[in-house]
Amino acid sequence: MEEKMNSPLILNGKELSKKLREKLKEEIKDFLSKGYRKPGLAVILVGNDPASLIYVKNKIKACKSIGIESFFFHLEENITTQELLDLIAELNNREDIDGILVQLPLPKSVNQKEIISAILPSKDVDGFHPENMGKLIAQIEDGFIPCTPLGIDLLMSHYGIEVKGKDVVIVGAGFIVGRPLSSLLLWRNATVTVCHIYTKDISKFTRSADILISATGIPHLIKEDMVSEGTVVIDVGISKVEGKIVGDVDFEKVKRKALAITPVPGGVGPMTVTALLMNTLKSYKKRNLL
Ligand code: GUN
Repeated sequence: MEEKMNSPLILNGKELSKKLREKLKEEIKDFLSKGYRKPGLAVILVGNDPASLIYVKNKIKACKSIGIESFFFHLEENITTQELLDLIAELNNREDIDGILVQLPLPKSVNQKEIISAILPSKDVDGFHPENMGKLIAQIEDGFIPCTPLGIDLLMSHYGIEVKGKDVVIVGAGFIVGRPLSSLLLWRNATVTVCHIYTKDISKFTRSADILISATGIPHLIKEDMVSEGTVVIDVGISKVEGKIVGDVDFEKVKRKALAITPVPGGVGPMTVTALLMNTLKSYKKRNLL
């Protein structure tokens, strides 16, 4: 039997990020020329997890490329919750810092929820503070939307992917992606289903999706037989398998059925960083009454 070959739309986050970051760079240049200070982002990393180190370096590099000043705090694995709270209190009070990002996950020895709750909501550019999470559910525009959900929203809207009224299935119910993304897509009037480790039959849901978003970090979890023809597939996973970066989706096989699909790397990843830059600039403008 001849295999059906389909050429899906590739949702190129790398390319879109480049365009969006050019615009942000121009905007910042304009503020500097008017005598304003640079926007500032504090980046806190605890320990030496190799993946987190790469993510943090990417974020710092992206800041530099558009004119955001980054302040990197690389702390020992054995730091106490109190020491971290003291640092956050200091950063909350600094005039030159518009955003505070604590790279997750934190070591088990520190209380992650307490740390995130200590960040001033107006500087919480990751959008993980309960106040910002609450604003997301309440559809209050002046909060911060977590970076990966915001990046996915921007990517779909750029490529004209209508969300309103669609059946969206999210695989993964984590606090960084799945949960806030479900709220954002409800905001956009999608019908949202969230699958997680206790879901009895994930395939039953994924096969019924108009838009399928996987955010589990399990390499190639989403196989061809779990996806229906004409689905929009968004892959949030980034895993290393035999030295190669792969997503949650078996890209080569699933792309034959997809209407549109994100590559890994070059899809959602760069959009997450771009959303962080946008959130930092949003804070900067608000704090400088711009
Ligand atoms: N770890 C994985 N994704 C993220 C993110 O978007 N922000 C932070 N702070 N940590 C993460």
